[in-house]
Amino acid sequence: MNKVIAIDGPSGAGKSTIARLLAEELGYQYLDTGALYRAVALSLLHTGLNEYATDGEVASALEKTKISFRNGRVFLNQKDVSQEIRSPEASHYASVFSARRAVREFLLDIQRDALHHASLVAEGRDMTTVVFPYASAKFYLDASAEERARRRALELRTKGYDVEEKQMLLDIRERDARDSGRDIAPLRKAEDALCIDSTGLSVEDVFRRILAILREGRP
Ligand code: DC
Repeated sequence: MNKVIAIDGPSGAGKSTIARLLAEELGYQYLDTGALYRAVALSLLHTGLNEYATDGEVASALEKTKISFRNGRVFLNQKDVSQEIRSPEASHYASVFSARRAVREFLLDIQRDALHHASLVAEGRDMTTVVFPYASAKFYLDASAEERARRRALELRTKGYDVEEKQMLLDIRERDARDSGRDIAPLRKAEDALCIDSTGLSVEDVFRRILAILREGRP
């Protein structure tokens, strides 16, 4: 029986780095669900849709959308879009389109299906609450908005994007409000998830702490 470790939290809290490290350490697959929402957003954008699209338009664009992932790469209709999904535009529209019911339903099966193939470290916004509520371990990874903006700006600069930290903070706050304020599967801490605030902690600190919890079954 495959196992799943579920991690939720806001943008820039360090979920993907931690999830990747945990997956490597435990020999599990890393499931980056944000990447799936980003790929769907690209698909809808390529179809010419934006936040004003009707539910019907979104549903019919999804019928022509095929998302897959392997070895840490994400494919949209067989094309590797792993780089493209990291752009600020894809970030913005992933957050916008992820509030649509049709988009969430479209990705639900893809995410759950991954568990049939391997044990997972799955991270996103609704891993602990909706997609894998029965996960063997649940974490909510948080950090202050200022620290998350700093990390995001640094990450985007290393990818060649020219970004201002101030603008990043505004973007992060806007995405937080949208991801937590939506009606369907909003970001929230599951009652049985353990919250870890990574503000001021190194990646290594957070990784070691989570690993200790997983190994000893206690904080
Ligand atoms: O984790 P990320 O920044 O790559 O996610 C991009 C967007 O996708 C995020 O703003 C909200 C959405 N998302 C979601 O709604 N549910 C998930 N499980 C993962 C991401």
